[in-house]
Amino acid sequence: MNVPQDMKVIDVLRPGGPDELVCVRRPVPSCGPGEVLIRIAGAGVNRPDILQRRGRYPPPSGAPTHPGLEVAGTIVQVGADVCDFAVGDRVCALLQGGGYAEYCAVESTQVLDVPGNLTMIEAASLPETYFTVWANVFGLGRLRDAQTLLVHGGSSGIGVAAIQLASALGHTVFATAGSEEKCRFCQQLGAAHAINYKQEDFVAAILAATNARGVDVILDMVGGSYLARNLQSLATEGRLVIIATQDGTKGEADLLRIMQQRLTITGSTLRARSASFKATIRDEVRQTVWPLISSGRIKPVVDRVFPLIEAAAAHAYMESGGHMGKIVLRVD
Ligand SMILES: NC(=O)c1ccc[n+]([C@@H]2O[C@H](COP(=O)([O-])OP(=O)(O)OC[C@H]3O[C@@H](n4cnc5c(N)ncnc54)[C@H](OP(=O)(O)O)[C@@H]3O)[C@@H](O)[C@H]2O)c1
Repeated sequence: MNVPQDMKVIDVLRPGGPDELVCVRRPVPSCGPGEVLIRIAGAGVNRPDILQRRGRYPPPSGAPTHPGLEVAGTIVQVGADVCDFAVGDRVCALLQGGGYAEYCAVESTQVLDVPGNLTMIEAASLPETYFTVWANVFGLGRLRDAQTLLVHGGSSGIGVAAIQLASALGHTVFATAGSEEKCRFCQQLGAAHAINYKQEDFVAAILAATNARGVDVILDMVGGSYLARNLQSLATEGRLVIIATQDGTKGEADLLRIMQQRLTITGSTLRARSASFKATIRDEVRQTVWPLISSGRIKPVVDRVFPLIEAAAAHAYMESGGHMGKIVLRVD
């Protein structure tokens, strides 16, 4: 396929607000051994992109400087040693960065076929959230059998994926969200009970809903003051998995409670993990999540689509907190 020399990219020239996202031209990346080159049709917007734009989440060494952790598009080149993908394949991929562009090169082990029932825009909304939820809720959190899950930020991109996947796999899911409308949305996705954390104490609500037992796993993106309250919401041998610290990186933990109830506090960031770890997660997501998406049991939730050159407006919209589900950039 004909690949141009250079391409449109949205990059952050200096840390700051949405207006620091500017359109520049950069060379199209080369496709190394083990990689595929994708002509991008859609790029998911994720909260970590906002942290990167503000200068608080620098790209790892070797990653492109421009943001974008996930894309969907068509393969236009295949590097040496790639046997499982071909030019013309419709795919989506998890990236270390560089999704806000017309082309990206990525290890083929982080690539998945786009399910036939999905648009490219829908497919672009999946990799970052499902890799993160799978690695944290089912990996570190060891959610098993018919155990219960509490998802904070239930209407976020991550929250939607966690509610949809855990409920599709037969778990009872509780969620928190900041408005009645967001709570209703979480319930429509499969949450058994949604708690408006601005109106109600989530600890009391969880204990009331579980007969004072608590939940087996909590997926937390708040941190800070939530630490003590999360521990109060866990059942014996429960696991708290922290994936973000929007309320700060420090909190108080009752150590006696941790000992007496044998609780686990853990967490992770996906972007920093090795290529082999991401390859393993890709294989598990393909085996467990993809059939649920292909069958229509799980439907991607795209709240709003912006053209790539309006990435600043997409960031401002995400920061307004009005969205439910994912925001995607369309690359024409
Ligand atoms: N560790 C990892 O590997 C990893 C990977 C991807 C994303 N993340 C993190 O996961 C989070 C979600 O990402 P996303 O892209 O899905 O973002 P998003 O759609 O913008 O969601 C952010 C959510 O945070 C909630 N929130 C913010 N402050 C809160 C508070 N004080 N109390 C309760 N909820 C609060 C908001 O809920 P309300 O509007 O209801 O208040 C909103 O739903 C982000 O913090 C992101 O950095 C981590």
